[in-house]
Amino acid sequence: EMEQTLKGKNVLVSAGPTQEALDPVRFLSNHSSGKQGYAIAKAAKALGANVTLVAGPTALEDLKDINMVHVTSAQDMFDAITSRLDNQNYIIMAAAVADYRPEMVADQKIKKSDEEVTFHFVKNPDILAYIGQHKKENQVICGFAMETQNLEENARKKLESKNCDMLIANNLFTRGAGFQTDTNVVTLLRKNETKHLPKCSKEELGYKILETMKEIEMEK
Ligand code: C5P
Repeated sequence: EMEQTLKGKNVLVSAGPTQEALDPVRFLSNHSSGKQGYAIAKAAKALGANVTLVAGPTALEDLKDINMVHVTSAQDMFDAITSRLDNQNYIIMAAAVADYRPEMVADQKIKKSDEEVTFHFVKNPDILAYIGQHKKENQVICGFAMETQNLEENARKKLESKNCDMLIANNLFTRGAGFQTDTNVVTLLRKNETKHLPKCSKEELGYKILETMKEIEMEK
């Protein structure tokens, strides 16, 4: 039995990719497996928290004793999360949310022709930015950033622009990091701190994130 350090805390986690429909049979998505978000939710549960996991489509099994909310698109995820924000203490957005969606979803399958085809994309709402804008005094927010270049600089910009307390940044091209793997290699950013963490399992990183969020909460 693990020490119940998060007993009485409400923890909201997002995980996985989103799918943005083009027509009834096709969608735009990304390679997110959901593993990191699920690992965080599992760690929070083991520490005694009440956990809500809002997950895009993944191959993972539902977690026991966790409030599972399954969504498909970024707009679905936005609605599911913003309607559940009120009582949350720790909010961790590990989902790889699509930044854009097709402006129109065809109601019938788009047929192949001899012509080229062009799609117009519009912006999805930024869930994390919304949470940051509406942050309450008792809330601690952790965002994620996957970058392929200028990791720290881009991540620090995100931490500030989205009003996060903490941000976990990883480089897609680092071995043992990112999508699909069971391990991660990340940089943990806080207002006045940048920590390069050694490679660890996604579950270990989950505990590390929650421990740091508790520290941030106590410093508030
Ligand atoms: O700006 P970028 O998408 O790289 O930021 C990544 C962080 O923002 C992640 O925590 C992700 O879950 C969150 N995000 C979001 N809504 C979006 C896009 C990203 O919550 N539409």
